Amino acid sequence: MGRCFVSRQLPGDAVARLSEHHEVEVWPGDLPPSPAELAAACAEVDGLISLLTDRVDATLFESAASLKVVSNYAVGSDNVDLAEAERRGVAVGVTPDVLTMATADIAIGLLVSVARRLPEAASDVRAGRWRTWEPRGWLGLELSGATLAIVGAGRIGRATAARAEAFGMNVELVGRGDDLHDALSRADVVSLHVPLSSETRHLIDDAALRAMKSSALLINTARGGLVDQDALLAALREGRLGGAGLDVTDPEPLPADHPLLGAPNTIVLPHIGSATHKAREKMAELTVDNLLAGLAGDPLPSPARAR
Ligand code: DGY
Repeated sequence: MGRCFVSRQLPGDAVARLSEHHEVEVWPGDLPPSPAELAAACAEVDGLISLLTDRVDATLFESAASLKVVSNYAVGSDNVDLAEAERRGVAVGVTPDVLTMATADIAIGLLVSVARRLPEAASDVRAGRWRTWEPRGWLGLELSGATLAIVGAGRIGRATAARAEAFGMNVELVGRGDDLHDALSRADVVSLHVPLSSETRHLIDDAALRAMKSSALLINTARGGLVDQDALLAALREGRLGGAGLDVTDPEPLPADHPLLGAPNTIVLPHIGSATHKAREKMAELTVDNLLAGLAGDPLPSPARAR
């Protein structure tokens, strides 16, 4: 029997299943443990279930000498230093597939919201600015016939593409070898679906935003660090971009007084792409499967892969 630390309470029964095999401590707080609290909790554990809010880096590994498996409750692994884990022989698992549909749904939800200016329209109703049915009021982008560039043709990108095609959008999948700025220049909507790495940080920078049409919309359900937020804010404020739908920001949470929250035709969600009962419970199951396999010395069902 090994010792495990779970850095937050998870939905469903998966952690109870883990407790049948190992001694388990679960962080009781609603907020994540601080780096020092996480290090203290991991001092003598064999397995860790981490969240994307935990930094699993060299400092943590240093204070967790017996750690054998890190099972990240996320499909992304940018919060884990994979090279350091490999160097120390620590296996790292992630949760692909089970959140694909939920995240693609949110990408489309954001797309429809900004294309049809729902944030602005709803706030006008709340503020008493709905005077009558207005032939020229709240006009937006018709999705049918519009071009959507999906940056990152992985599982979530392709699931988003399938949904967009059902709306009649012309979808262009933009992969690693493709000319990003060229694709951006043609798109009415751009949706980001690439993992965050040193290669992709600020993939959407000032130059990328300037390559886009001034009416174009940017959707990000992947990681906030993909976008240079200062450049995005400037583009929105100066009318060089038509709107943004962001489920992810940098940092998270975005401070309540952050100027992006007041930017034109912009909606910011609290990183809820995978937040369905089904996806989050399946993520917990897969996280526990990864941990159990790793602690038994078996290959993880869903190992993280370095990019
Ligand atoms: C992930 O899994 O990486 C998502 O961002 C959260 O579910």
